[in-house]
Amino acid sequence: MLIAVDGPAASGKGTIAKRLAAHYGLSHLDTGLLYRGVGQQMMGREADANFESRAIDVAMSLDTGNLDEEALSTAEVGLAASKVAQIPEVRKALNRLQREFMERDGGAILDGRDIGTRICPQADVKLFITANADTRARRRTEQLLTRGLDVTYDGILEQIEKRDKDDRENPAGAFFQAADAHLLDTSKLSIEAAFQAALDIVERVTG
Ligand code: DC
Repeated sequence: MLIAVDGPAASGKGTIAKRLAAHYGLSHLDTGLLYRGVGQQMMGREADANFESRAIDVAMSLDTGNLDEEALSTAEVGLAASKVAQIPEVRKALNRLQREFMERDGGAILDGRDIGTRICPQADVKLFITANADTRARRRTEQLLTRGLDVTYDGILEQIEKRDKDDRENPAGAFFQAADAHLLDTSKLSIEAAFQAALDIVERVTG
């Protein structure tokens, strides 16, 4: 079974994908981590004349076994990821890694921005997870404060709104709800309720 989970930053897509993977015993890839891995290595190099070609090299030689989720989860790395995600050759290199992952076990759950539209248009089930910007900023602020990071709601909201805009307008991306994707708005749902709602959709579609 192949499941595609897409949605904007902090919509809950990662948590839902992880829990669905545990439920069905499927492998899970957070594709944002790949972009974050490249973005992190390019931070501070934005003014370099060879920024693009360097980012492509980083993407082509990315060590996926060595991505530190905790270090990659900051808002700054998110913005850097969104920037390198605009380079078509970076996407091409990372797309290859995503397809390899998908084909390895014959079944998988991938979450990201263009899984249902581009990486895995043949997915058995496609979920498009959303939540309003206020909810997403609140969730992300709490998450980062818990981890001891020095963040404010206003700062996080601003970063989320910028990233939404950049991702939506990314000329190299395909960040939209696929025609056959099921929309799930998690704004008013707890993590548990959001997971149950996602599970209900998957069961209904595949059952
Ligand atoms: O899901 P995330 O917040 O970890 O993603 C970080 C950035 O990576 C996001 O702002 C856009 C980019 N991205 C992408 O372009 N395509 C994907 N499939 C996943 C992420």
